[in-house]
Amino acid sequence: MKIIFASQNQGKVKEVKAIFNNSPFEIFSLYDLGNNMDVEETGSTFRENALIKAKTVYDHYKHPAIADDSGLMIEQLDGRPGVISARYAGENCTYEDNNLKVIKELSELAEPHRAKFVSTAIYYNGKDIIESVGELRGVIIKVQRGTAGFGYDPIFIPDGYDQTISEMEFELKNKISHRAKSFEKLKELLVKKYS
Ligand code: IMP
Repeated sequence: MKIIFASQNQGKVKEVKAIFNNSPFEIFSLYDLGNNMDVEETGSTFRENALIKAKTVYDHYKHPAIADDSGLMIEQLDGRPGVISARYAGENCTYEDNNLKVIKELSELAEPHRAKFVSTAIYYNGKDIIESVGELRGVIIKVQRGTAGFGYDPIFIPDGYDQTISEMEFELKNKISHRAKSFEKLKELLVKKYS
């Protein structure tokens, strides 16, 4: 079965395609379909935003879609950046702008800076909503390290590791990440229901 992944984030697309590799489901990204639509995230939770993305893309193609909404929650910042993780330093900001803003906000605060990544993954086919959540816990460091991945990866060290996510091999990130957990679970639920 073909499924459209409602994301323009090429980092996420690479991760999710790898997760669904060797499954009954073939993932197409919006980029694969030549579609540069940008869905406005007007929800106030990860779940609301993931559902908005999956429904918008389903309505456009009348074809089953999956989406995720994800972000970083830092304890000492009362859960920020949270749902506005992508645009924490302002509209059209870069990943680096966001990292530097977080580093600045934590500069006066004592370590460890406990944090977690959260991903809510949702499937929608015009009728059924199937969903799952994944988390990855760790700490924020105040220097950026590594070049792989995207977003806050250079400043996040998962519990049990010494490397930032940006210093990890792609395969390791895609085994332990919040998105790996949410989409592995979603894949199992889809296999049970549709194959
Ligand atoms: P979304 O596309 O609205 O879900 O935005 C997710 C944002 O959260 C990204 O732009 C990143 O800033 C952050 N984020 C989500 N997942 C990751 C990840 O795996 N690594 C680093 N940052 C992430």
